[in-house]
Order: sequence, then C-alpha cells, then structure tokens
Amino acid sequence: NLTVISNSASLSIEKLPLAAEGVYTCQHILQPLFHGLSVTRLPFVITLTVPVTKPYIVMSDSSPVEGTSVTMRCGLENGTGPINYIWEQESRESQLTTVAEIYDDNRLNVTDVNRNHTGWYRCIAINQVNQQRSDRVWLDTICKRLLNIGPDQPQIDVTPYSVTERGYSALERETVSLLCQASSNPPSQYVWFYNNSQVYAGPQYTINRILRMHTGHYACLAQNTYLNTRSRKTITLTVYCEWRSDLLDSTSKQSH
Ligand SMILES: *[C@@H]1O[C@H](CO)[C@@H](O)[C@H](O)[C@H]1NC(C)=O
Ligand SMILES: *[C@@H]1O[C@H](CO)[C@@H](O)[C@H](O)[C@H]1NC(C)=O
Ligand SMILES: *[C@@H]1O[C@H](CO)[C@@H](O)[C@H](O)[C@H]1NC(C)=O
Ligand SMILES: *[C@@H]1O[C@H](CO)[C@@H](O)[C@H](O)[C@H]1NC(C)=O
Repeated sequence: NLTVISNSASLSIEKLPLAAEGVYTCQHILQPLFHGLSVTRLPFVITLTVPVTKPYIVMSDSSPVEGTSVTMRCGLENGTGPINYIWEQESRESQLTTVAEIYDDNRLNVTDVNRNHTGWYRCIAINQVNQQRSDRVWLDTICKRLLNIGPDQPQIDVTPYSVTERGYSALERETVSLLCQASSNPPSQYVWFYNNSQVYAGPQYTINRILRMHTGHYACLAQNTYLNTRSRKTITLTVYCEWRSDLLDSTSKQSH
C-alpha cells in the first residue's frame, strides 16, 4: 500500500508487510534551462523486525529418569533474530527461579536430572522489538529406584517343606504347593515347567493329591516382560509312597 505524498517528496507505506523489505530509491530530477536533465539517485534500505510470537515448549522427555538428560526447546513461529531466551522454573513449592538465559539458541539442556528439576517451566523469547512468554509445561523426574530391573534369581518355597539329599520330597496324596518369587520391576510374570513342559502360569503352582508319577524337575521361570529379561530356577521333587516314608531320614524332614 504505497502512497506518494505530493509536494513533499515523501513516500508512505501502510500496514508494512514483510515483502516491503528491500532497497528503495528516490530520484531527484532537476530540469535546468540549458543543460538537459540532472538526476540524483538516493537509495535507502528498509529492513523489518518481526515481533516474536508466543513461544511454546517442546521437551525431549517430559518424565526423565534421575541421572539422564533432557533437552527443552523454546519454539516460536515468527520473530526476527537474534532472539534471547530466558528459562524460568517454578518448583512444586511455587518458587520461581531463572534457570538460564541463552543468547540465540532456543535449546536448554539439563544433564544429570535430579528431583530438583521437577516443576513448571516457561520460556520467554525476546528480540529487538518485543518479548513473549510461553505457557508453562510440567517436567516430572522419575526416581531411579523405579527403574525397570530384574528379575532376580527366583526363590522357590515348597510346602510342606521336606528335603532329602535328592532334593525336595513329598508323600503320595499330599497337596504340594510351589511358590516362586523373584524381585522385579515391573513385577515378574511366572511360568512353571515340569520336566521342561509348561504346566502353569502364575507364581503359585499347587498339585492336589500328588502321585509318584509327578516326580521330576520343576522349574520356575520369572520374566520381566517390559525388559524382556528372565531368570530361572529348577528344583527336583521326589514323590514317595506313604509306606516308604519311614525310610526317610527323620532328621531331614522339617516343618517350615
Ligand atoms: C507468521 O508469519 C507468517 C508470514 O508472515 C504469517 O502468515 C503468520 O500468520 C504469522 N504467524 C503468527 C502466529 O503471527
Ligand atoms: C544441547 O544439546 C544439543 C544436542 O545434544 C547440542 O547440539 C546443543 O548445542 C546443546 N545446547 C546447549 C545450550 O548446550
Ligand atoms: C536439591 O535442592 C536442595 C535444596 O536446595 C539441595 O539441598 C539438594 O542437595 C538438591 N538435590 C540435588 C540432588 O541436587
Ligand atoms: C520327569 O523326569 C524325571 C527325572 O528325570 C523322571 O523320573 C520322570 O519319569 C519324568 N516324568 C515324565 C512325565 O516324563
């Protein structure tokens, strides 16, 4: 929207669009009586500074685990650089602190995250003509002890508890319960095997009225399905006829 203001050699541009940037030339033309035209050219440059728009925060991870790193980016649609970025943190206790002031780089790197980094974050973008503040974004830090681990080597508890040199023993027609436990986060998933065939899924495998044909190797497999890790423990269980129980060494039969 260009207007030449007559009688004043002035030019008016309304509602400056970005496209108005560039070189303008004013030509001064004299027409003296005898020497033809005399032209003077006066070039000048118009550069525009676009105000910054309201920034927004993008986090590489909004719930990083303690000890890891996170990068926050203060994004904005428009704004002529160089832009200064100020990062503010509001803690859980509503305490406001300026975390960083970074010239012409919209990233904030937080290395070795700890629980003190938990809180609301805002960025403020500032250029030559204005400044704008983002909405706040929550950064949560995850306690290291919640890290996914395990499973540990399983522990198997046999009830009733009876051991011989050959491993665990049971009497025919008893109800025998095998309980498997292995620490893990997330909690272990358990699978039981008898002589390498899967027989049960779950921590506690109970055999009602056990028979001699149930003698063999019982293995518990504990799995952390998140990490896809597993550990396994095998016991040997021998089932005796009731009439042979007196052959067992009575000192090795204990109550648990
Ligand atoms: C950013 O600039 C472009 C081009 O000038 C414009 O179309 C757009 O509306 C601007 N965005 C904002 C949020 O002002
Ligand atoms: C933040 O990290 C990125 C990538 O790791 C790196 O390119 C950038 O320079 C870092 N910025 C600052 C301000 O340290
Ligand atoms: C967190 O901040 C408190 C109080 O300023 C400080 O005592 C503590 O050492 C900080 N913790 C870490 C892990 O930096
Ligand atoms: C399981 O293994 C034990 C020991 O090797 C064996 O005595 C038993 O017969 C096996 N049971 C089956 C059903 O294969």
